[in-house]
Amino acid sequence: MNPNTTFQVPGRTEKSRFEKIDTKVFESAEAGSRAVATEIAELIKKINKPVLGLATGTSPIGVYKELVNMHVNEGLSFKNVITFNLDEYYGIKNNDIQSYHSFMNQHLFNHIDINKKNIFIPNGEILENSVEKYCSEYEKKIDSYGGIDLQLLGIGRTAHIGFNEPGSHENSATRLISLDPITREDAAGDFNGLNSVPYKAITMGISTIMKAKRIVLLAWGHKKAKVIQQAVEQEIESNYPATFLQNHKNCTFIIDSEASGELALNKTPWLVGSCKWNNTLKKKAISWLSGKVSKPILKLTTRDYNEYGLSGLLAEFKGSAYDLNIWMFNQLQHTITGWPGGKPNSDESKRPERAEPSKKRVLIFSPHPDDDVISMGGTFARLIEQGHEVHVAYQTSGNIAVSDDEVQKFIEVSESFMSSVKKDEKLIINSDFINTNPNDNKLKETSLKIKAAIRRSECIGAARFLNLPIKNLHFMNLPFYETGKIAKNEPNQVDINKTIELIKKIKPHQIFAAGDLADPHGTHRICLDIIFDSLKKIKNESYMKDCWLWLYRGAWLEWNIEDIEMAVPLSPSQVLQKRNAILFHQSQKDKVMFQGEDNREFWLRAEERNQKTARKFNKLGLAEYQAIEAFKRHIFH
Ligand code: F6R
Repeated sequence: MNPNTTFQVPGRTEKSRFEKIDTKVFESAEAGSRAVATEIAELIKKINKPVLGLATGTSPIGVYKELVNMHVNEGLSFKNVITFNLDEYYGIKNNDIQSYHSFMNQHLFNHIDINKKNIFIPNGEILENSVEKYCSEYEKKIDSYGGIDLQLLGIGRTAHIGFNEPGSHENSATRLISLDPITREDAAGDFNGLNSVPYKAITMGISTIMKAKRIVLLAWGHKKAKVIQQAVEQEIESNYPATFLQNHKNCTFIIDSEASGELALNKTPWLVGSCKWNNTLKKKAISWLSGKVSKPILKLTTRDYNEYGLSGLLAEFKGSAYDLNIWMFNQLQHTITGWPGGKPNSDESKRPERAEPSKKRVLIFSPHPDDDVISMGGTFARLIEQGHEVHVAYQTSGNIAVSDDEVQKFIEVSESFMSSVKKDEKLIINSDFINTNPNDNKLKETSLKIKAAIRRSECIGAARFLNLPIKNLHFMNLPFYETGKIAKNEPNQVDINKTIELIKKIKPHQIFAAGDLADPHGTHRICLDIIFDSLKKIKNESYMKDCWLWLYRGAWLEWNIEDIEMAVPLSPSQVLQKRNAILFHQSQKDKVMFQGEDNREFWLRAEERNQKTARKFNKLGLAEYQAIEAFKRHIFH
């Protein structure tokens, strides 16, 4: 890149001695993407024939969107730009929908004025005996344009960059590789199942990437936090290929605050420098210390605090270690309650929820038609048992997460039922329809309808089991979800209006919503944003002034101890009841399509997560419960 460029990537400026790669943290993926697009635009304007190295995957989509915006609205021209893509699946047709050729056309090339002759993407159609020659020519082609000025990267769960999987050599060049099983699993959603994911890919090598004059790696979301920590703070190791970037002279990681969660600056800031001690940070530090020295809170000593870099916390507390321990213990103790809707006629000052009104109207928002029971099935049951008026709003139909086999099973059941009832009546669709007509849009639509119906009936079964009146279930079918594909529509006013309408109708004292933003396809995040946007609009209405919002987390993530503001313990029989409620969601039991990085069934994951939270409380010195569901309050007024 032009060394005289004046562009400075904004973002966090603090530095941590643990970080071996320049890392800029942005509030959101959108803000980070904007900064990177701006850097690219500056480069395009400055250099005569800029050479960009491009990546695919979810991470760069926001950057491409911004670049397209700049082209359409600000006249940014790509006429002189040369691009080289990092990789392509091998054995896939360039015009297949899952190919990286198609991805690049869809997200960037179709919308800008780039000269098609200047686009280079590895060709996954090349015959195996010509691959080697083809790859070395790809390298030469990059060199012939003077090398890559700016290389954009994402990072995989295996710490791969490009498709340089663990074990890749520092000197590796463009070549054919075998995909790591984890990478194939991550791609399964795009290919409608693991079986169709290619086993091989052509990728630029580590040395090809390292030759770029500037490297920008993008990572968004909790699920990248661990791999970012490995790449930025651990030793260079070929098992974590992204660590090689520590040797690059001009490499920046652009990440959002969620992806920065495991960096020392966030995880253990007291080891990095001086801290501003608010209550959350105090709790975080003390629970960390307790884990480090394997002692419950009330046994922590001044020496423990001092030896583990927390003398500053003690000094600022202006009391003894024991006083600080008691403070922390009480804080945690007061989060625990078996009365998630508030305990009637009790002193509420030391409880997470208000005592009055003793019978509350409760609205549980569930992004998919099973998050309610997976994430807070125990609390859900308690709220019903304790006499509150509980409503559940299923925000999306969840239809794409039901397999065709499941649809077929239900059609067969209804076919056999129908044939026994009205022998001469023919069904419009028969059980072969999925197999015989995979591309028929009308049938696909019918199939999606059946899938949604399957999920609805599962919710009804679970509600009946928990003694919730069926009339209190609200199937919102928010339109942003209804694409029939993994990629969803942008949420819009209709989604918000439907949400406002429901809140207005119920006038809840409590709203529970999914604050679990790590689901693999981003639906939870969109669902939460819709709720936030709706609440913003109606927060001043009289019926909202008594409404509290509690966030739960689900199958993918749990709140940290310092975040938990309400901890609802479950007895062994309540754990069993929750498991049985989850098992009503039979279509999600086996071969779940979009379950992310954990292959276990949801009930098992939920149970383990709740037991882990209980163990954490117990290790800190609090009572030993079978399981705990955890919530954080979100103030929106
Ligand atoms: C894509 C590529 C990969 C991805 C990585 C992260 O061209 O080379 O290294 O960047 O797998 O993928 P996402 O961004 O989907 O998490």
